[in-house]
Amino acid sequence: MSNELSNNEQNRRDFLKKFGSAVAGITIIGSFGSILQSCSSTTATDLGAGADAGKTLVVDVSSLTTDNTAVHATAPASSRGLLVVRKSSTSYETILLVCPHENCSYPNVDLSGSTIICNCHNSLFDLNGTVTSGPSQSNLTRFTTTYDATTKKATVTF
Ligand code: FES
Repeated sequence: MSNELSNNEQNRRDFLKKFGSAVAGITIIGSFGSILQSCSSTTATDLGAGADAGKTLVVDVSSLTTDNTAVHATAPASSRGLLVVRKSSTSYETILLVCPHENCSYPNVDLSGSTIICNCHNSLFDLNGTVTSGPSQSNLTRFTTTYDATTKKATVTF
């Protein structure tokens, strides 16, 4: 009888140990889930045309009266952040605000003065999207942009 109780007590302890580990495991997994979810909300993994491939976007750039100024826009299908930059009175460029380093995206990647900064790890890019300081080893993606002087609108092609 005392052996039976002792065995039951041992089984109960084993069960509590295993159950305790399982609960701890769920807690940890839950925490990682939260971390992953918060990361994914600030990243965009596609550095190419992606879901926007074949689409165009017309952007009113009439507010840009000096070179190297820019307006924000949003890609039509992917909703990724864009920066439409006036290079001259007739020339515009569109830059995808997704960092090639680890895919942080707008608003973590944005214009600051005449530099585009990725606040995730401080990569710097010029207004052509060219990387000027790492850790990014690649330039920001640019999309073909044409300008209509009559309507003062730029058309971005993805
Ligand atoms: S994700 Fe931009 S510098 Fe790391």
